[in-house]
Amino acid sequence: MPVIEEIAALHQDMARWRHDLHAHPETAFAERRTADVVATRLKSFGIEVDRGLAGTGVVGTLHHGHGAAIALRADMDALPMTEANTFAHRSRHPGRMHACGHDGHTAMLLGAARYLAETRRFHGTVHFIFQPAEEGEGGGKRMVEEGLFRRFPVHAVYGMHNWPGLGVGRFAVRPGPMMAAFDIFEITVTGKGSHGAMPHQGIDPIVCGAAIVGALQTVVSRFTDPLDAAVVSVTRFHAGEAWNAIPDRAVLAGTARALSKEVRNATEAAVRRIAATTAEAYGAHAEVHYDQRYPATVNHAAEVERAARAAALVVGAEHVDRDPTPSMGAEDFAYMLAERPGCYIWVGNGPTDGGRNLHSPHYDFNDAILSIGASYWARLAESVLSGTSETSTFL
Ligand code: NI
Repeated sequence: MPVIEEIAALHQDMARWRHDLHAHPETAFAERRTADVVATRLKSFGIEVDRGLAGTGVVGTLHHGHGAAIALRADMDALPMTEANTFAHRSRHPGRMHACGHDGHTAMLLGAARYLAETRRFHGTVHFIFQPAEEGEGGGKRMVEEGLFRRFPVHAVYGMHNWPGLGVGRFAVRPGPMMAAFDIFEITVTGKGSHGAMPHQGIDPIVCGAAIVGALQTVVSRFTDPLDAAVVSVTRFHAGEAWNAIPDRAVLAGTARALSKEVRNATEAAVRRIAATTAEAYGAHAEVHYDQRYPATVNHAAEVERAARAAALVVGAEHVDRDPTPSMGAEDFAYMLAERPGCYIWVGNGPTDGGRNLHSPHYDFNDAILSIGASYWARLAESVLSGTSETSTFL
């Protein structure tokens, strides 16, 4: 496998950096130690460092000659969950865990930064974005809002995520949606409490809430084009305290996903309509809080081509899947892709056995892919910023 020789030589360093980050996970907007480590390493490579975007964000900048500017982005945050692994680099902090591999993403981008700073086989500018709070809190959005691309103007921005279930030495990327838009909702059903033996004296919010849960299944099955993708999942239903008392209220919550703006908006409208009218049918009242969070992560065709070619330089074109099925998971790199042309790619993390799935307490980033991912970053920067006529249209 033609990973870059100089990067393969950095493997032990990258693994050491990753294990250190894995042992010291920090959650959304609290990545202070992580940001310190990243900034210190970037400086030691001779890279300019800017800190403070979105609080704990770090941006490294490397110029060499004249040419275009691109950004390569990694995420730094961990999840608020307790690790079940027992290996030496397991989390030192109960309730915090790198269960999505952002420790590996950070280590790979640091490895690529060191290589690019040492070799400088490119013409132009590379910005290394280390963002906080990818997991649900929108650190990428905040970086954009606080002027990321005004302060660090780029022609294109690239992101990468490890993908369990995709083999080691494989990449997957496609134009259009890679990851879904993610929304959350909470529905408060207000009825009237009564004795459990005398339901006719009240309005039962549990029966009404159950009907809403059932009716919400029709958002996807009856109101969405079968050729479009959407998900509506009710994941929480809280009501009542006693076995013989019907409560006043029931509170349902859940998440909705879609791959396009149109389906997303139609899903929101349907959830609102079904909750309100079903409650009315039961003589109850439903109040709906619906919050549109991350938009869909939508890749741009020209940057997908560049990314796929760079990946092929590392693993061979036959190991780059150019038409993977999009995931209904979400990713706040979407906000960066909404601002600039770019591409988000999956790098294979290997088999999922033993719980090596994203957000599993048994997950661990696969060290075997550190050199592959870092080589992809390096080849991408070198090929996009090669200064040849092929890329001159890009400038
Ligand atoms: Ni992640």
